[in-house]
Amino acid sequence: MAEPALLEELLRRLQEAGGGGADSGELAARLGLDHQLVVGAVKSLQTLGDVIEAELRSTKRWELTDEGKEIVEKGSHEARVFDAIPPNGITQSDLMKLPSGKVGFNKAMSSKWIRIDKNAEGGPRIFKATDCIEDAVKNKLLLVQQGKDSKLDDKEKNELKKRKLLSEVGSWKEKKFKPYNFDAMGIVPECGHLHPLMKVRTQFRQIFLEMGFTEMPTNNFIESSFWNFDSLFQPQQHPARDQHDTFFLSEPATATKFPMDYLERVKKVHSEGGYGSLGYKYDWKIEEAQKNLLRTHTTAVSARMLYKLAQKEEFTPVKYFSIDRVFRNETLDATHLAEFHQIEGVVADYDLTLGDLMGVLQQFFSKLGITKLRYKPAFNPYTEPSMEIFSYHEGLKKWVEVGNSGVFRPEMLLPMGLPENVTVIAWGLSLERPTMIKYGINNIRELVGHKVNLQMVYDSPVCRLDP
Ligand code: PHE
Repeated sequence: MAEPALLEELLRRLQEAGGGGADSGELAARLGLDHQLVVGAVKSLQTLGDVIEAELRSTKRWELTDEGKEIVEKGSHEARVFDAIPPNGITQSDLMKLPSGKVGFNKAMSSKWIRIDKNAEGGPRIFKATDCIEDAVKNKLLLVQQGKDSKLDDKEKNELKKRKLLSEVGSWKEKKFKPYNFDAMGIVPECGHLHPLMKVRTQFRQIFLEMGFTEMPTNNFIESSFWNFDSLFQPQQHPARDQHDTFFLSEPATATKFPMDYLERVKKVHSEGGYGSLGYKYDWKIEEAQKNLLRTHTTAVSARMLYKLAQKEEFTPVKYFSIDRVFRNETLDATHLAEFHQIEGVVADYDLTLGDLMGVLQQFFSKLGITKLRYKPAFNPYTEPSMEIFSYHEGLKKWVEVGNSGVFRPEMLLPMGLPENVTVIAWGLSLERPTMIKYGINNIRELVGHKVNLQMVYDSPVCRLDP
């Protein structure tokens, strides 16, 4: 029966039943349908609103216990006691020795099937009090065994249940269960969704990994001025350090642990020069280097890693990358927030040149689908030469800046202890910019911060940066 026809049939039968309602199980049996089909029809009608009312009824079945089965076979305990009594009676003590003695005696007494002569010779004696009996308990149990338990009322059934001769069985026991389908697709679980920034980060990470780079540990937002600035040959009076660009920490305001011999070399290269450099010629102060801050760039992490590399007994070329958060006290606008993510790549090897840097950048950006690159001379305190990276934007029909790069200065690398013929090339870009372009977001506040619409996070598709 097709569903619409079934729905009509169901309504017709309900109407016929007046206010009495109908039992879905009986209906299914009468229509020759699977019960679940009828249940489905009931549910469909329920979704229509005020059409029908339904209530869940669990049907129960009665089953004989082992003792109940024994009674069907051998008679009730009281009947067995009755049958065991010879015409001239039996002593109570002998009767009690019978298997059904104890229970059967009491029941048979209260049914007045037997009587007791307490003054008989040889102790209390039991006699039959009637010629024949009707074993009602056995008969009732027989009805249950034959599936005719509807002939018994609830009181009778509950009495037999109390005597532990019957037990109630949930209807599930009779049901056929579908076998488990281990090949079925599960319901997609509700789960978290990656923020677009994290989706794009995954892609950049993938590109670096394809190129053989290793990820640097970036799990410290708090950094000392020493690693954020001084180790990078950024003079202590540099405007980027002042309160307008850097969030300094008030608690704890200073860092105390530094590799002191290295710190002395950094101090020297800043204040006196060395390694072929004239330095900045100023009074370098450890107090300035000690100031804690929220790192302003991930190059602080690169500095730590290069220092660590330089402490190894023998230099080995490395390719490092990082993608993590940095903080700058900037004026907020549609494209700037006080915190953002930087993507940074670093390659350290013998005798690398500017050509190597351009080659790596070409390879890196081509994996993003960006092939037309141009470089513009720039300035970073820690790189020389430094180059801004531009790419031609086909949509905007113009060259747009996509990153910053350079060759780390000897003033930065040699105090660390790296060999003189080792060059380190590096580049950096923001994660927010490509993410906003990829997801068509014009205002950074729609991507990060308290105004973000979480549905945007939910709806944003997986990011693919394939060219
Ligand atoms: N640290 C630079 C910045 O904050 C990026 C950069 C990294 C430049 C490495 C050169 C080399 O923009």
